[in-house]
Amino acid sequence: MSRLNPELVKTAAFIDGAWTPAESGDEFAVFNPANGEAIARVADCGEGDAVRAVEASANAFPLWSARTADERAAILMNWREAILAREEDLAALLTAEMGKPLKEALYEIRYGAAYLQWFAEEAKRIYGDVIPSANTNARTIVLKQPIGVCAAITPWNFPNAMLMRKAAPALAAGCTVVAKPAEDTPLSALAVAALGEAAGLPRGVFNVVPTQKPAAVGDVLTSHPLVRKISFTGSTETGRMLLRQSADTVKKSSMELGGNAPFIVFDDADIDAAVEGAVASKYRNGGQTCVCANRIFVQRGVYDAFADKLCRRAARLNVGAGDEDGVDIGPLVNQRALEKVEMLVSAARDEGARIATGGVRHDNGGLFFAPTVLTGVRNDMTIAQSEIFGPVAPLIVFDTELEVIQYANDTIYGLAAYIYTHSLGRAWRMGEALEFGMVGVNEGVISSAAAPFGGVKQSGMGREGSKYGIEDYLEIKYLCLGGLEQ
Ligand code: SIN
Repeated sequence: MSRLNPELVKTAAFIDGAWTPAESGDEFAVFNPANGEAIARVADCGEGDAVRAVEASANAFPLWSARTADERAAILMNWREAILAREEDLAALLTAEMGKPLKEALYEIRYGAAYLQWFAEEAKRIYGDVIPSANTNARTIVLKQPIGVCAAITPWNFPNAMLMRKAAPALAAGCTVVAKPAEDTPLSALAVAALGEAAGLPRGVFNVVPTQKPAAVGDVLTSHPLVRKISFTGSTETGRMLLRQSADTVKKSSMELGGNAPFIVFDDADIDAAVEGAVASKYRNGGQTCVCANRIFVQRGVYDAFADKLCRRAARLNVGAGDEDGVDIGPLVNQRALEKVEMLVSAARDEGARIATGGVRHDNGGLFFAPTVLTGVRNDMTIAQSEIFGPVAPLIVFDTELEVIQYANDTIYGLAAYIYTHSLGRAWRMGEALEFGMVGVNEGVISSAAAPFGGVKQSGMGREGSKYGIEDYLEIKYLCLGGLEQ
């Protein structure tokens, strides 16, 4: 708490360029998951506040979308610079409200800022088309235009970067934004809103509506006719609900939903590199990412060696409050998350898995869970069919390439997958056969502003980042320019 810069601890909603309390006057507390202390009390917005934010955003749209791409890009770059100039403060705030180690929080602030740079550059490359016409009297032209007001519903596991990954392409395209941050982590979003205001974002262009009543605000964002697009990162269950709610007003939707990432280690892989990749993928953010390795498949010939090395590495990971030096794994975000992880480990044990290391709450108490490795897991166990969202690595043995493809694809999810092999042919075959939106080959962490992030099957729709990310915020308009021969 003492390390937080008070200038960046904003507690009011940011609507139409003004810091305002909730119209009900309600507030809610934000807690530090490492010690349970309240960090701040934040405006608890409701339906009326959300409607005001949508209307402000709609009023701001004509002027913002009429600005040149260069002008919008310059403001986004100012915003990026303001964020990077305060990266330490923003990281400390992020760690305080979410729990991840400071080094990961700092990485996240830079990761988020990279989306601002990427999309500031992309703003200038929104090209349409001129298509050869079937009619000599007319020309066929395609315009790309901003959709309008976009709702960004963002998760607690990356409270800065996931907001930037949505806001940056939306604003670059000329859209305006109403953001609803997760209840556990509103402070990072409010802090970047303050920096955006100072960087020159005009009033109403970017609004933040914190709330502990997500259903009330979510109802407005999914049903208000002025909201043209909804972008959500979170669970598949909530994504399905938002899609259903958005159907009546037929909103364009981007959904970045749950994952059940297979991490596949073949006999021919560099085992040490695979162990490091598994540690990076599995234990990043304490296992609380949608792309974390969720099922680690290891070919029989290297299973014991891999399990032994991974256990030793996991047991050496330093668990503690994110702002302590040398910490690798922070607390889980809240009590519900802790209980879910505990329940999955206990179900795995009951179904026949062995706890090779960890498997219990960490000695630190509170919301800390020990880095865990489970051996003897089968793909049909509860843990292998659930998104774990905690520092638990289930190891599953396999024999053949065909068998592991079947196992890996046997899930409703299709976000990220990882393969470790030295065979180029196998890497290519696997890359094609895996039903996932992203595949890492000999890499455990593959996210980047330059790459298209997103899933297939029930992991969602749309892509964030890369040249494809801006398309989700654009409409295509066909313009038939006729009467040319008159
Ligand atoms: C997520 O967990 O939703 C995002 C992870 C990432 O961007 O790497």
